[in-house]
Amino acid sequence: MYDNLTTKEMIGKIEVLKKERNAIIMSHYYQHDEVQDIADYLGDSFGLSQKAATTAADMIVFCGVKFMAESAKILSPDKTVVLPEKMAGCPMADMVDVAGLREMKNKYPDYTVVTYVNSTAAVKAESDVCCTSSNALQIVESINNDKILFVPDKNLGTYVADRTDKEVVVWDGYCNTHYRVKVEDIKKVRDKFSEAPILIHPECRPEVVTMADYAGSTAGILKFARESKADTLIIGTEQGILYQLKKENPDKKFYILSPKLICPNMKKTHLDKVLNSLENTEFEITIPDDVNEKAYQSLYKMLELAR
Ligand code: 13P
Ligand code: SF4
Repeated sequence: MYDNLTTKEMIGKIEVLKKERNAIIMSHYYQHDEVQDIADYLGDSFGLSQKAATTAADMIVFCGVKFMAESAKILSPDKTVVLPEKMAGCPMADMVDVAGLREMKNKYPDYTVVTYVNSTAAVKAESDVCCTSSNALQIVESINNDKILFVPDKNLGTYVADRTDKEVVVWDGYCNTHYRVKVEDIKKVRDKFSEAPILIHPECRPEVVTMADYAGSTAGILKFARESKADTLIIGTEQGILYQLKKENPDKKFYILSPKLICPNMKKTHLDKVLNSLENTEFEITIPDDVNEKAYQSLYKMLELAR
């Protein structure tokens, strides 16, 4: 696609089309460096959707995976939201569907369904309240029910279950990128960099998270790194985040916990796809009104409880 254009020409065209279409480009921290460079806003998954809702732009080009673009659409139903790469999905989000969740709800009728934002709009619509990786525990604690059904990430669910007195039933989903990090990886870096704090995403296995010095969302990891006095830090999340970490902290050294921390779906978006999305309004996110309304309620409830 656009093989006849140089990178500079592509960026030039993107800039022109952005103005013509009153569009903004949002990029998650896991995107390729060149995509992060052309973004108007960088952020964690839900932070970007919130930001998109407050701008006056008519069009949101969401460089991330589908559930993130869906969240942007849920919060901004009147804006045009496009996902540059149609096949950029999230295997974890796809590990639960509406039929399966309804079955589980029938099995646990008096449980409150707390759904991680890494989920489809349809599953959010079927839930009581959403949560992010940074507020999951806070949301569970503030719910007026001691019985929680946590969907779809069993690792984040277990992280919460280990820190609350409530009864938490977890769905059997997981992120196959973060799941690759093993206890041996932590032991290896601890041997080599004994002083360096280990920062980890709670989508990693619980036994790995327990060994880390900090567990939090991508935005949380960036904040911790900014505020840390350490000159070397070990990062346990998708390696795309290193680009922003190094930009923000030129005097600190960052090492990735495992070379396997690459999310193939996050890496499907390139500049040519971004250009195509602006030129041809591809690939537009559409959500049926009733689903959008119910999913909005679950996200809104989260914002209320997280206050
Ligand atoms: P954040 O919400 O922390 O940005 O994480 C998104 C994600 O997909 C983690 O795998
Ligand atoms: Fe989904 Fe994991 Fe990729 Fe995040 S890193 S988008 S949870 S597969």
